[in-house]
Amino acid sequence: MPAPETLTADVRGIERAAELLRDGALVAFPTETVYGLGAVATDDRAVAQVFAAKGRPAFNPLIVHVPDINRAEAIGAFDDIALRLAGAFWPGPLTLVVPLRASAGISPLVTAGLSTVAIRVPEHPLARALLGAVDAPVAAPSANPSGRISPTTAQHVIDGLSDRVAAVLDGGPCQVGLESTIFETGNAPRLLRPGGLPMEALEACLGGPLTRPSSNGPVTSPGQLVSHYAPKAELRLNAMDVLPGEVLLGFGQVKAAFNLSPTGDLIEAAGNLFRHLHALDATGAKAIAVSPIPNTGLGLAINDRLSRAAAPRDQA
Ligand code: TXA
Ligand code: MG
Repeated sequence: MPAPETLTADVRGIERAAELLRDGALVAFPTETVYGLGAVATDDRAVAQVFAAKGRPAFNPLIVHVPDINRAEAIGAFDDIALRLAGAFWPGPLTLVVPLRASAGISPLVTAGLSTVAIRVPEHPLARALLGAVDAPVAAPSANPSGRISPTTAQHVIDGLSDRVAAVLDGGPCQVGLESTIFETGNAPRLLRPGGLPMEALEACLGGPLTRPSSNGPVTSPGQLVSHYAPKAELRLNAMDVLPGEVLLGFGQVKAAFNLSPTGDLIEAAGNLFRHLHALDATGAKAIAVSPIPNTGLGLAINDRLSRAAAPRDQA
């Protein structure tokens, strides 16, 4: 099989990516959070290929990407809370889980047979241009093999998926660097996954506190398996020292070859998290000690990903 085509961030690249998607192929593309592995969401065969390429269990549904709220409302039913959140944070790193409209023709593989659908309007200009050019909803999980670290560069996608993706639209490094925040609306509105939109922003918009997802409670989002985002090395969290054989993934004023943010900036740390974990994997490090990271703002999502990366692998 040939290596994936690398498509450049221009009109030709976008047109080629759209053409491949319309033909039923898989195309990885940048969003402001992480790179997505795209397939046209109404095309059963293409969506089935997404699961095969990632080695993803079929019970774990995908996020549908659309360019605007109007297309989103054609796919899902938005109540007042959903409309308020979409109005405040779209385009951006927020995914809303809403009741699915059967008339939208979304492949049942996308929703894993659920009566709800996860929808997102990304902010990245290339993602928006691509969604416009395809003129169809695009299902896209993160473009990594299931259970491994999400890609924040085109090279990460190629390293992880190689010939299992037809093309990669190269938009450089992703700005946010963490997957979107997932919020379910409806009868019991709740946060399903902390992510690139801080929980405090959702709370300010909704005017009240949210329940945090618990890492040892029942799995509320099928993708929230405990062991996930795993690098090859073992991780030790909240490390105040470095043991023999360990490499430090630092935060703040510590001496470390890999530092998420020497100044203790959580936005910078989120942007560096997966990039540093990929780079540490490439060094062949066997054990990684991670500095403590405050659990506020994007720190909540950073700590969520780190605790999953550190979880015993037999829980995957
Ligand atoms: O930032 C992102 O969200 C990236 C970019 C590419 O958009 N995508 C991403 O997709 O992280 P993925 O597949 O890695 O994570 C999607 C999560 C999974 O945990 C899945 O279980 C959950 O969304 N999900 C999808 N549909 C759902 C639904 N109907 N109800 C509950 N959870 C759902
Ligand atoms: Mg993922």
